[in-house]
Amino acid sequence: MTVDGTALVTGASAGIGRALTEEFAAHDHDVVLVARREEKLRVAADEVEAEYDVDTHIVTKDLASREAPHELYEETQERGIEVDVLVNNVGIGTQGAFVENDLDRELDQMQLNMVTPTQLTHLYGGDMAERGSGGVLNVASTGAWFPGPFMAVYYASKAYMKSFSEAISEELRSEGVSVTVLCPGPVETEFQSRASMTDTPLGSGQMQDVEMVAEEGYEGLQAGKPVVVTGWKYKLLTKLSNVLPNRLTTQSAKDLNTSE
Ligand SMILES: NC(=O)c1ccc[n+]([C@@H]2O[C@H](COP(=O)([O-])OP(=O)(O)OC[C@H]3O[C@@H](n4cnc5c(N)ncnc54)[C@H](OP(=O)(O)O)[C@@H]3O)[C@@H](O)[C@H]2O)c1
Repeated sequence: MTVDGTALVTGASAGIGRALTEEFAAHDHDVVLVARREEKLRVAADEVEAEYDVDTHIVTKDLASREAPHELYEETQERGIEVDVLVNNVGIGTQGAFVENDLDRELDQMQLNMVTPTQLTHLYGGDMAERGSGGVLNVASTGAWFPGPFMAVYYASKAYMKSFSEAISEELRSEGVSVTVLCPGPVETEFQSRASMTDTPLGSGQMQDVEMVAEEGYEGLQAGKPVVVTGWKYKLLTKLSNVLPNRLTTQSAKDLNTSE
């Protein structure tokens, strides 16, 4: 079942969200760009409009609150925008020892990485199920397969998104709604500096290409794949993780997340 129509992308002003916005526009989807920095959203919207001749809409919103998903939903309703594809891309990371990290920042991370996407899926996914068509593309990470010491909440949030997505993919398939969870390896974006992880092996090592990640995510959604892991190395690693001892994978993640 292919997915057409307007795609709403959270975190569309930079990084993977911006690349996904372009990928959807390149396939003739109108796009709704959501993030906090209006100027960056405007530039991204102007670029895809000029390049792909699609309609764009901008919603400037901080999504790190319990009220924000409802406000976003209301705003799209009021503006008469029907969302056919929801791209839950927004997410942040926090590197460091959990008990020493700022708890409010960890709670914001839980809101942005788990609660906001869950709320948006309930709101827009409910409408899609009623209409009998639509798609949800959730951005998790290959971190979803492992516990991640020194990025404990981040890895756990991605494990939640993977499990949640696979479960609702099964629930919504019969309603005509396709759900895919996109799991990239490391990608060079603003993420590494925001997460204070540029001095870790994970934050300064080999990175995947952002356009390749967006393309694999888009194709996976259109092919009805519940899970998309990007790049052959990470496809292999996530398969291997099923047979490797948990102690070993946890230690490896700890090494990757430790400041040098
Ligand atoms: N980069 C990686 O290595 C990597 C790997 C695997 C998975 N991922 C996942 O991919 C997704 C996108 O990450 P990225 O690498 O593209 O990060 P990024 O370059 O930091 O972009 C994050 C986007 O989210 C927006 N955002 C951040 N906080 C927000 C808030 N409170 N409210 C609204 N929007 C907010 C940012 O825009 P504003 O600042 O304008 O709001 C930006 O558009 C995340 O879910 C991340 O976990 C990333």
